[in-house]
Amino acid sequence: MKLISVASEKGGVGKTTTAVTLAAHLAVKGNTLLVDADERLQSASKWTSKNAGYTWAFETTLYSNFTRQTFERDAYDFVVLDTKGGEGQEELVDLARNSALLIVPTKPDGVSADGLVATLAPLIGHDVRNYRVLITDVPPAPNADGLDLRLELDRAEIPMFSRDIRHAVAVSKAAREGVSVRDVKGDRYAKLVWLDYEVVVREVMRDVR
Ligand SMILES: Nc1ncnc2c1ncn2[C@@H]1O[C@H](COP(=O)(O)OP(=O)(O)OP(=O)(O)O)[C@@H](O)[C@H]1O
Ligand SMILES: [Mg+2]
Repeated sequence: MKLISVASEKGGVGKTTTAVTLAAHLAVKGNTLLVDADERLQSASKWTSKNAGYTWAFETTLYSNFTRQTFERDAYDFVVLDTKGGEGQEELVDLARNSALLIVPTKPDGVSADGLVATLAPLIGHDVRNYRVLITDVPPAPNADGLDLRLELDRAEIPMFSRDIRHAVAVSKAAREGVSVRDVKGDRYAKLVWLDYEVVVREVMRDVR
């Protein structure tokens, strides 16, 4: 079982979007479980349960359920953990150590980037290396925020996924309709966001092998 965690100090940076879309991609490759550790908002659980007419290729469960001894963890090839965000430093380091890979999403705006520093500092301080930053919700050119952040992270030698996730209204549509972004109808950007995540998943597979 490969545990892939999605976490960040800052809220609203695309953790749930990343966890749900990643699980949808990984489900093609093996038995996949999405664990919702945001027990207050339960955004991931709501997203994957609100559309009764839609079938997900993976299962979803709450963290409290997942941690029960009786839970059959070994039945899964991939477990994707969506966190609530704002974990303490120790918690974040523990999470990374217990995961095959920790994905740290960030939006390219200044406030999110500040939150990113708060997330990465304890990881770097504890010499944790199995994490990667994912730049999400990147506005189209001529806006250069995504590029600027990438250059800045590159200078600091922070590991990143090679592909950004573009900004697309299809993402909120998918959550609203309770479907994977791949299956949002009548919006060709939905497919493009799905393909952005596909590139990310290829790198995830290489990392957790
Ligand atoms: N690629 C994208 N394009 C457009 N909107 C996006 C994109 N990624 C995320 N969003 C939007 O940003 C908001 C926050 O995303 P999401 O819920 O995935 O973040 P989160 O980190 O899980 O937030 P929270 O801290 O509240 O759990 C949502 O409204 C979502 O639709
Ligand atoms: Mg969330």
